[in-house]
Amino acid sequence: MMLMRPKARKCQCISATTTTVIPVITISSSLLAVIFIIIIQEYISNGSRRWFADDLPSPQVVNQWTYDELDQHLHELSRWNGFSPAQFRSFVEHQIKGLALLKSTDQKFRFLEVGIGVGAFARHILKVFPNATGMGIDLEANAISLAQTVLPLDRIHLLVANMLSIPALDSSFDYLFAPGSLCYLNSHNDVLLALSEFSRVLKPGGGLCVSMLPSLTSDMGSCNIRIPKSIWNSTTTTTTVEKKKKSNKSGRGGGGGIFGLQLVAMEEMDSWDLPHSMGRYSICARKEKEKKKM
Ligand SMILES: C[S@@+](CC[C@H](N)C(=O)[O-])C[C@H]1O[C@@H](n2cnc3c(N)ncnc32)[C@H](O)[C@@H]1O
Repeated sequence: MMLMRPKARKCQCISATTTTVIPVITISSSLLAVIFIIIIQEYISNGSRRWFADDLPSPQVVNQWTYDELDQHLHELSRWNGFSPAQFRSFVEHQIKGLALLKSTDQKFRFLEVGIGVGAFARHILKVFPNATGMGIDLEANAISLAQTVLPLDRIHLLVANMLSIPALDSSFDYLFAPGSLCYLNSHNDVLLALSEFSRVLKPGGGLCVSMLPSLTSDMGSCNIRIPKSIWNSTTTTTTVEKKKKSNKSGRGGGGGIFGLQLVAMEEMDSWDLPHSMGRYSICARKEKEKKKM
């Protein structure tokens, strides 16, 4: 009898442990699964990969920066590393060169920057064109908070929004800039959808400039979807870049495409000898003007 008791107790003990441990393991794994799903959803939120996680300084910190410090460091927060202030300005200006906008910097226009981040690119546009006003959108609320700190809010309206569904009426903008943001979408279908949004919000005759890398590069440091130059062919805009280059040195003109955008010019950035320019290209297009009714 004495020998039986401990056995029975041991048995009760195992079953007590089992009934406690199994539910704990089940609850913990369910919790882990939920946390994992939330992280994945955050990671690919709104059809796009998270760019700024929680690695930005607070608006209070950036607010202390002097004008020169903003010139020196703001673009680095967008991971445009390795530029001097003059090189970054040159980088911005090269990206919009195809529209020949810089010929008269006193013109008045309304622009949209898609994926404005902390506002480094827009800050230069607003500096170079003192009569320009605009809107900037980005998926990341913490980046938008910083942009609100550094940009003149009487000239630019900033919103958390997705480029796949731009919160603006048709024909709202004279120019649209997408510096380094289009390639963060998850698929070429999304790229085409974004292009149709760009075309929708542009005024007829309005200009578009997009810069991107045609290849996969680093994990988080750069664009993660390969956007081949052929995306600009007849199924998207008007004609292939390569054909255009061969047939017309200036690269201007072209027929109509499903997005009503005409290819204007394509800049290869390799030759600029600037950091971040390797393999990158910038493309500019114009939305077709409405044809006059006969
Ligand atoms: C390389 S940063 C460029 C920032 C800014 N354009 C500049 O040049 O200073 C890319 C930005 O695109 C934003 N982005 C990515 N996907 C987006 C989307 N679907 N809609 C809006 N913004 C997006 C990211 O959050 C990030 O701020």
